[in-house]
Amino acid sequence: MDMKPVPVREGNYNVQDAEGLRQGFDWEDVKKEFSWYKTGKVNMAYEAIDRHAEDPDKKDKTALLYSAPDREESVTFDQLRKRSNQFANILKKQDMKKGDRIFLFMPRSPEFYASFFGILKIGAIAGPLFEAFMEQAVRDRLEDSEARMLITTPELLERVPVDQLPDLEKIVLVGAENVDVENYIDFDKEMEKVSEDFDIEWVDLEDGMLLHYTSGSTGKPKGVYHVHHAMIQHYATGEWVIDLKEDDIYWCTADPGWVTGTSYGIFAPWLHGVTNVIRGGRFTPDAWYGTLEKYKVTIWYTAPTALRKLVSAGKDVVDQYDLSNLRHVMSVGEPLNPEVITWALEVMDLRIHDTWWMTETGAMLIVNLPCMDIRPGSMGKPIPGVVAAIVDNEGNELTPNQMGNLAIKEGWPSMMRAIWNNPGKFESYFINGWYVSGDSAYMDEDGYFWFQGRLDDVINTSGERVGPFEVESKLIEHPAVAEAGVIGKPDPERGEIIKAFITLNDGHEASEELLEDIRKFVKNGLSAHAAPREIEIKDTIPKTRSGKIMRRLLKSWELGLPTGDTSTLEE
Ligand code: WT7
Repeated sequence: MDMKPVPVREGNYNVQDAEGLRQGFDWEDVKKEFSWYKTGKVNMAYEAIDRHAEDPDKKDKTALLYSAPDREESVTFDQLRKRSNQFANILKKQDMKKGDRIFLFMPRSPEFYASFFGILKIGAIAGPLFEAFMEQAVRDRLEDSEARMLITTPELLERVPVDQLPDLEKIVLVGAENVDVENYIDFDKEMEKVSEDFDIEWVDLEDGMLLHYTSGSTGKPKGVYHVHHAMIQHYATGEWVIDLKEDDIYWCTADPGWVTGTSYGIFAPWLHGVTNVIRGGRFTPDAWYGTLEKYKVTIWYTAPTALRKLVSAGKDVVDQYDLSNLRHVMSVGEPLNPEVITWALEVMDLRIHDTWWMTETGAMLIVNLPCMDIRPGSMGKPIPGVVAAIVDNEGNELTPNQMGNLAIKEGWPSMMRAIWNNPGKFESYFINGWYVSGDSAYMDEDGYFWFQGRLDDVINTSGERVGPFEVESKLIEHPAVAEAGVIGKPDPERGEIIKAFITLNDGHEASEELLEDIRKFVKNGLSAHAAPREIEIKDTIPKTRSGKIMRRLLKSWELGLPTGDTSTLEE
């Protein structure tokens, strides 16, 4: 669908002239805005929290506006500084050190953020895990990272196979009242015992900060490793794209188990010292609009899947809320449907600004700045300091309007520095000086990028990235399942849903009950978002002669498309 551009609106944006900013731009100049540029003392936790807490005008400003169905709390920068200091002291007491992997497996809560910054303050590497993960997903990540410590809740502890994780030495339990915590560290009790002062461990810009696991098309989830250096880009995009200003009330809906929830749910807003709304609990259109209204949110960063739900809930629901404070909305994670842009213009009188990036890229790369015309359906243009192009499989640049690999010139500040324990995987992202994203796209004559799809088999369901291999591996653990092939099937609301093709072991009869049991098995083993919504029983699963499942063929069958080259298909 071709839609007219949505013109830029009058406004006092941080960036008024995108082209002007691009001219002669140098990341070195952004560095000058950080205290470490002069002192040499680097730590994300200092820049995001302590620096504001040391400022008499800022220390009592609300950093965190926390809202969950059963709890509401506001936390100032000074309180967050003290609490993260306390937690850093707990970590020290437990002999945790710089470079150790310390994981967080808990819902969003004020304790989460205190722990998170406590981890960074000792120079350790934080590994946030999405609370919906089930045992296998938790085990894969803790095992691969050789995590020494885990912070979790008594409820979620049931999904941690503690006795199968030899490296996991210590577990901190948050909210452990009335629980026998003999072998555990009780968060509340320990916090009372330790000092509110802590000497931050100053680190190198290139020292590790964060490990985010994400899925590819093959193998187990991979640990994407990010360093403190990334803050330069979190800060810059916070200024240019999110348009953060002193008095903004900002809300990012993403959970910190995903990179959006750390880069833009934690770092960008707090590097700018802005009040950050954090909402736990399940989402419904009423809860979303209610949060926007109640906290007088001015800037909102969310995802197409959420926006599509709002569209289907209808205009009547919007009209019940006062959204007059909202001035800027951004989206990430999946293609942003032009229809959603049109709807938001009509119903909220707001433009929605798409942004494109990935777990591996650490921060936004291709965006719609508030000072740009929006071309609905396009992801926008590269931010200053980033070179994007469409390249062929050898890494040669293609011309405008040619479809190919969306690629980024190596070397932007927030780029991942490694795939944990897997240098080969890391190397495989790069061709001829380009980071190759796995997305296909084209660039128009004016430099706007248009997303076309994934080039690999990675599934994007409601903005969540699911690796087919993981789901297939879980499926074949079910006693009835012999073989499995998993694909993403287009879906109007969720973008894609997970569809599994399976063959049954001898002695198992197809039935609705069995399919439901298999679905539950994946849900309880991996996570709800990884469970196939559709399962189809086949006599065989198509494989290559070397035994690889031909997901592309399954997809063509599913969509009724031509099957293409099947020369490698096994007899
Ligand atoms: C994949 C990365 C870090 C952002 C959250 C997702 C898809 C991301 C867009 C967009 C179309 C998008 C791509 C990308 N994606 N943003 N604006 N339009 N597709 O991070 O889980 O690492 O997934 O999400 O396919 O490769 P992720």
